[in-house]
Amino acid sequence: MDRNKLVFANWKMNLDINSSTKLIKEILCRNLNYKNIDVVVAPPFVYLSEINNMLKNSQLRLSSQNVFYNDNGAFTGEISHEMLKDLGCEWVMIGHSERRIHLFETNEMINKKIIFSCKKDFNVIFCIGESYEERQKGKTFDVIKNQLNESLKNIENKYLHKIVIGYEPIWAIGSGSIPDLKDIQETHNFINHHLNEIYPNCDNLPRIVYGGSVDDSNIDSIMSLKNVDGVLVGSASLDCKKFCDIVLSVGK
Ligand code: PGA
Repeated sequence: MDRNKLVFANWKMNLDINSSTKLIKEILCRNLNYKNIDVVVAPPFVYLSEINNMLKNSQLRLSSQNVFYNDNGAFTGEISHEMLKDLGCEWVMIGHSERRIHLFETNEMINKKIIFSCKKDFNVIFCIGESYEERQKGKTFDVIKNQLNESLKNIENKYLHKIVIGYEPIWAIGSGSIPDLKDIQETHNFINHHLNEIYPNCDNLPRIVYGGSVDDSNIDSIMSLKNVDGVLVGSASLDCKKFCDIVLSVGK
């Protein structure tokens, strides 16, 4: 089955209202007119409303960087899916390693968020990845298998096409260099193989994208790999030229 590629921009906790809207304006001015790619931007919560207004009639899609697993109630500081829908979000990012590390998100919480997001009909980018120590100790596949098993628990086949796995080796994020291509390939193959094991005979398995120091200089080599359905981009997504070049490369 042919599936759209994905370019997902994770702005993290960067930019302000002026620089956010300027960046979106610049991207829209480039009039990229791409085909067969989903291009999604995830600004900080507080800029979603303003950016949503700018994206009417555009191909760019909007995501949050997090979401909670309840409709409403006494959950101070959290945001629900219905609130995100009001702001034009069709996507949510779940389980980024920075949230696992700094906010102590567990696979169990991530699983609840994914289940809730599927039921609310959101597209989900669900992040996994090993630390440097785990890779050094040869534990990469065990860690990833565990993240997939625990976080995808009880998720029915019918929702899988709405889920994208974002493989991000933690040690590559923000480092300025990507792992050896052979290592990226091996891990994507492993994820693909494991998804086929958890969901046998399923023809709409989650897409798998790579993240961690992706930029306009390494995008072509990353996209030449098998089982790589796109990229999750952090710092390079804050630069209009780099980001647009990445979109154009993925669309080639
Ligand atoms: P980076 O971030 O592209 O700046 O490495 C990627 C991410 O954390 O999503």
